Amino acid sequence: MTAPLRQIEPIQVPVALGARAYEIVIGRGLIASLGERVKALRPGARVAIVTDETVGQLHSGAVEVALKSAGIDSARITVPAGEGSKNYATFEKVCESIIDARVERNDLIVALGGGVIGDLAGFAAASVRRGLDFVQVPTTLLAQVDSSVGGKTGINSLQGKNLIGAFHQPVLVVADTALLDTLPKRDFRAGYGEVAKYGLLGDAQFFAWLEKNWQDVFAGGQTSGNFAREHAIAVCCRGKAGIVARDERETGERALLNLGHTFGHALEAGCGFSDRLLHGEAVSLGMALAFEFSAQKGLIAASEAARATAHLAAVGLPTHVNQVRGGVPGIDALMNLIGQDKKVKRGKLTFILVRGIGQAFVANDVDPAEVRAFLSEKLA
Ligand SMILES: NC(=O)c1ccc[n+]([C@@H]2O[C@H](COP(=O)([O-])OP(=O)(O)OC[C@H]3O[C@@H](n4cnc5c(N)ncnc54)[C@H](O)[C@@H]3O)[C@@H](O)[C@H]2O)c1
Ligand SMILES: [Zn+2]
Repeated sequence: MTAPLRQIEPIQVPVALGARAYEIVIGRGLIASLGERVKALRPGARVAIVTDETVGQLHSGAVEVALKSAGIDSARITVPAGEGSKNYATFEKVCESIIDARVERNDLIVALGGGVIGDLAGFAAASVRRGLDFVQVPTTLLAQVDSSVGGKTGINSLQGKNLIGAFHQPVLVVADTALLDTLPKRDFRAGYGEVAKYGLLGDAQFFAWLEKNWQDVFAGGQTSGNFAREHAIAVCCRGKAGIVARDERETGERALLNLGHTFGHALEAGCGFSDRLLHGEAVSLGMALAFEFSAQKGLIAASEAARATAHLAAVGLPTHVNQVRGGVPGIDALMNLIGQDKKVKRGKLTFILVRGIGQAFVANDVDPAEVRAFLSEKLA
């Protein structure tokens, strides 16, 4: 981890994937340079911007102006905001609109939005004409530190989340941190769950930095004149880029990014993927459970687990199941949901557990009975 930048230059984070390598560019006000960046990458390309209604209203004007100023024509494809748009019908609409806009092999899709838009537009880009290039312009904290990097794209099946999709890397990621100024505080905080995840899974020094500087990350640079937000996003992107470069298809190390996600997904599904529990909130809760479960198994000192949980609680993220509005499902339903998660092999469960802050590992021999006993106690 390096010291926070004090200058306004954008931070560049390379994703080293050989022929599919790309840059993540992070900085305040970067949208204005999007046209020039696209032009440098694909001279003469047409662009289709895929966005949702909320983001479209707030930010697509600036994106269109930036493209236009570099002489780039664009079409705008807008879908309803929210997870519901990661479905077959919206996917069809996006693909047909891309073809309609006469976007061809040498043109570009711009995904302007949060993780929903990145996943949906990325999958459409992977599919139309057997693969179009796309640029991620993430507009949520979650998307800037996680979903826009690494090339996982897709939609939800009737039977579960993200079951239909493709690996399709973007050709560029432009993370304009000023876009986060319009993000509701609750969404920002939920995204911070994933920020903390990078410290907790593999970077103890970054976690300690977050404990001291999280308020500046939330405030952004607009008043404080510092670059804590940009620094935090860059550290997360470097962490994810490193993992993705070593294990693009998740055959090993990439699974560490699922810290908190096995418990988290079960709770999220148990709440019907509603706004009772946002994804990042579920991950926070899931990480608190993973640390406590690791402590109960004697893998990590209880005080160390408590330190992890205390930070999540300090920023206002949920760390206990009783904080979920409307309650969570009972133990049988939860165990069922955990079993349905893709991380099950021959009756044993796979969890990301921890030996310390910043020391996560993949445990694929976790006894379901042990998980049941642990969770029952939490639900009591
Ligand atoms: N591909 C991956 O590797 C990966 C990783 C993590 C999560 N995901 C996916 O990401 C999705 C969640 O992403 P998300 O949390 O960004 O949700 P989201 O895209 O639904 O955005 C959350 C809400 O914020 C609004 N919004 C977005 N940017 C805004 C802005 N700048 N100002 C005001 N409002 C704004 C959106 O309209 C939406 O209502 C899930 O579908 C999840 O499966 C994918
Ligand atoms: Zn996540």
